[in-house]
Amino acid sequence: MESIIKPNYSIFFGNTGYVKLLELITKNNYDKILILSDSNTVKHCLPILKDRLFSADSKSKGEIENKIFSYTVNSGEQTKNLNELKKICEFLISKGFKRNSLIINLGGGMVSDLGGFVSSIYMRGIDFVNIPTSLLGMVDASIGGKTGIDLNDLKNIIGSFEFAKIIIIDLKFLLTLSVRQINSGFAEMIKHSLIDSNEHWNKIRNVNCSKDIDSDLIYNSIMTKIKIIENDPKESSTRKFLNFGHTIGHAIESFLMNSDREILHGEAILIGIILESYLSQKLLNFDTKLTSNVKNYIQKFSEQINFSAEDITHIIELLKYDKKNKSEEPLFVLLNEIGKPSYDIKVSYEEIIEAFKFYAA
Ligand SMILES: NC(=O)c1ccc[n+]([C@@H]2O[C@H](COP(=O)([O-])OP(=O)(O)OC[C@H]3O[C@@H](n4cnc5c(N)ncnc54)[C@H](O)[C@@H]3O)[C@@H](O)[C@H]2O)c1
Repeated sequence: MESIIKPNYSIFFGNTGYVKLLELITKNNYDKILILSDSNTVKHCLPILKDRLFSADSKSKGEIENKIFSYTVNSGEQTKNLNELKKICEFLISKGFKRNSLIINLGGGMVSDLGGFVSSIYMRGIDFVNIPTSLLGMVDASIGGKTGIDLNDLKNIIGSFEFAKIIIIDLKFLLTLSVRQINSGFAEMIKHSLIDSNEHWNKIRNVNCSKDIDSDLIYNSIMTKIKIIENDPKESSTRKFLNFGHTIGHAIESFLMNSDREILHGEAILIGIILESYLSQKLLNFDTKLTSNVKNYIQKFSEQINFSAEDITHIIELLKYDKKNKSEEPLFVLLNEIGKPSYDIKVSYEEIIEAFKFYAA
């Protein structure tokens, strides 16, 4: 797969990534290197990383191994917090990490968000590399320069924009990822295809199971995100397109959080895409047949959830507190056509209730 080289970051696929990482380490002569992982990726991914890195250049093994420190956090979103940030910084201080040190984030979006944020503030910023190990990390979280942590129940409320020097995409990591987690990442790939083009969507809808997700599809998905963030790096306008499916999706995710029906982020986004496709049809004349196609296709990957009238009222309440909403009424990204989204579309609560009816039918 062709590398993606940009002025402030590069994305490499497979073995090339490890060769480039070694080159980066040698060129910058980092004094210390931290590999940040979580309790799953330390077990499943760290051995692969070490094996791949040192087989890329066995000569540098001893020299680099001596510089490497490993720090492992608990897996799960609840780790992305201020306390964990403090503990990692304390670890870096205790081991003598300086400006010329490097952090390698080995994990899903939780690890790259947390490690990226630490890197962006430790000693006013040190270099970092993302090695995403979840599908969501590969096509979304590790790319685009957003880093951050949660505070209380507010997701990603503290953070920074800082690019990883290198991002390595290695599909080998996906072999130990659960099907639910794969589907969660695939939700973002479906979203990318719908905001990108008919051609992209037609490729995506050929995927029938997680085994069909190949490097070409991952590459297309990454390129869609890159195209969008290049036009609007700090999300003042068209970067909002990436929020398609997320306005209602986030509210559903928050509503079900800590309940016995808790679902993964991507699972909530899949429902959000169905509802927001319906709203696109209703408000922007998005094609009726396509709306049904999107719904039927997504339902292959997503378990149907029953929302009572009371549930929907609560979800609408949560929409009012979405931090991305500047106005009282929730603002949506909706599709005019596949590949032609619009942002800041006002939607009434009655229309949201109708969208839930469409989902349930
Ligand atoms: N910065 C951004 O632009 C951006 C974009 C989207 C999402 N995010 C953030 O990303 C996070 C979600 O990412 P995620 O879905 O990757 O979550 P995650 O990092 O929590 O990973 C999901 C689960 O999969 C496990 N896992 C990861 N790789 C594995 C592997 N190869 N084998 C076995 N288990 C593995 C993890 O330990 C975890 O239990 C959220 O915190 C979200 O806010 C950030």
